[in-house]
Order: sequence, then structure tokens, then C-alpha cells
Amino acid sequence: MNIRNKVIIITGASSGIGRATALALSKYKNTIIIVARRKDKLEDVAEIIRDNGSICHYFTGDALDENFCNEVVDEVIKMYGVIDLAILNIGIGPPSNTLQASAIKIKHCMQINFDTFIHFYVPIMHQMKKQRTECMIAHMNSLASFFGIPMQGDYTAAKGAVRLFMQTARMELKHFGFKNIHIQTIHPGFVDTEAVRDDGMPAPYEISKEKAAGYIIEGIKKNKKENMFPFKTTLGIRLARRWLPEWLITCVVLSQTPSDY
Ligand SMILES: NC(=O)c1ccc[n+]([C@@H]2O[C@H](COP(=O)([O-])OP(=O)(O)OC[C@H]3O[C@@H](n4cnc5c(N)ncnc54)[C@H](OP(=O)(O)O)[C@@H]3O)[C@@H](O)[C@H]2O)c1
Repeated sequence: MNIRNKVIIITGASSGIGRATALALSKYKNTIIIVARRKDKLEDVAEIIRDNGSICHYFTGDALDENFCNEVVDEVIKMYGVIDLAILNIGIGPPSNTLQASAIKIKHCMQINFDTFIHFYVPIMHQMKKQRTECMIAHMNSLASFFGIPMQGDYTAAKGAVRLFMQTARMELKHFGFKNIHIQTIHPGFVDTEAVRDDGMPAPYEISKEKAAGYIIEGIKKNKKENMFPFKTTLGIRLARRWLPEWLITCVVLSQTPSDY
């Protein structure tokens, strides 16, 4: 889809990939609505977006609160009457061990990665079904959603759940004739953000957040269903899914896993 002069919601835009994507999209005269909890960070992003020639509104709040998410979407519809693009990016992936982690810690990770997505997806889809113009919901997933990965059991489970949810939504949109709504799942490999810099995880073929934003914009322009990047990590995942037996995948993954996490 065209990415110029659009009304765009980006959740989790106060830092990392969400911030870099918001800044990259701000060069195309868009109206960008950014959401996160840290007000000072959002103010900083909003200022740069405006300097780059786009309009920006920010909403500060916790996306685990469904009412807050509904209010954001309602407010955007009141102001602009349309949502062209939503990039639902909120997520966390702290190191976690399925043999030791508490239920509270596991549920928290899954709620941040799943519930925050659903809290925005539902009202945005409700709105987009009323629109006639081309629009898109994109979810920031991960290449990690295709396998279980040590240190990331809760994270990969939540991302895998959203991947299947989005795949289903795409089928249902086709089935019920909503040809104008695109569903895109974005699968970055390793991206250098503050959130992951010191997490102790290996990060082969890691790319910068600016480079990730470039891939994200290209994927949106091309209406990709699954936007996977960078190439080398994607190739590895594709080959493994198609050709490698589970025992070999386990050997490769464990060879990269710290022994003491
Ligand atoms: N970095 C990677 O290597 C990588 C790879 C694949 C996929 N991803 C995915 O990319 C997305 C962004 O990750 P990142 O590395 O850029 O991390 P990040 O900088 O920590 O970004 C996460 C964003 O989500 C917001 N957020 C977290 N919890 C929230 C909540 N309860 N309510 C509202 N906002 C909340 C954070 O803002 P506040 O703290 O201000 O609320 C922040 O803006 C995640 O979904 C992640 O799974 C990252």
C-alpha cells in the first residue's frame, strides 16, 4: 500500500523498532499516532516526527488496559474518521526458563505480547471493516515464532499464537469479502535495540533498528503477508522448517544457548 498521507497508529513507539519505524514513516507527510507508557520518550519521538513534516499525536498508557486501547482508537476515529495503517508492535522477550519461571512471569510475558495486540486489533478491525479504502493491520512478530527456543518459551508461544491468529484473520477477510484490508505479520530476525542489548542471547546477523524500519516500510508497500528479514536469518529459518529434522534443529539451537541461564 501507499505509505504517504496516511493515518497511522504505531503502538510501542517510544523506543526500539517502533520508534525507528515511526520516524521513517514521518518522512512521508503522514498523520502518526504513537502509543506507549513513557511520556518523555513519546514527546521526544513526536517532536522529531513533526520536524520531519508529519502530524503526530501521542497517547500515554498501558496497553494491558483494554479501556485505554479502546479510547485511543475512538479518539483517532473522532479526529480523522479513518485508520489506514496500524503497526501493533508492543512486545517483550526477557530471558525465561520454562523449568524455573513463575506462572506470574510467564503470564506477564504472554499478556504483553498477546493481550496488548488483541486490545488494539479488535477496535481497529471493527473500524476498518467500515472503511472502503485500502488499509492494513501489521503485527510485529518475530522469526522466533516458528520454533520453540530455549530462554524464550513464553515469548515464542505468544508470538506463535498471534501468527496463527493473523493467518486466520487473513482467511476470514477473504472469505467475507473484505478485499481492502491487508493483514501483515512482520518477522524481524535479531535487531539491536536497548531491550535486547544485554539480554545474554546470541544474536547472529543482527541489524540496526533503522535498517529494520527500512525492511518494514518496504514490506508494507508491497502488501506482503509475511514480512521476514534479514535475508540470511530468514533463509536459515526457511531451510530448517522445510528440510531439517527436529533433532538437528535442537542441536543447532542448543549450540547457541548459554549453559547457565
Ligand atoms: N529487538 C529484536 O531483536 C526483535 C526481534 C524480533 C521481534 N522484535 C519485536 O519487536 C517489537 C519491539 O521490540 P524492541 O526490541 O524495539 O523493544 P522495545 O524498545 O522495548 O519496544 C517495546 C515497546 O513497547 C512498549 N510497551 C511495552 N509494554 C507496554 C505496555 N504494557 N503498554 C504500552 N506500551 C508498552 C514500550 O514502551 P514503554 O516502555 O514506554 O511503554 C516500547 O515502546 C516487540 O514486539 C518485539 O517482540 C524485536
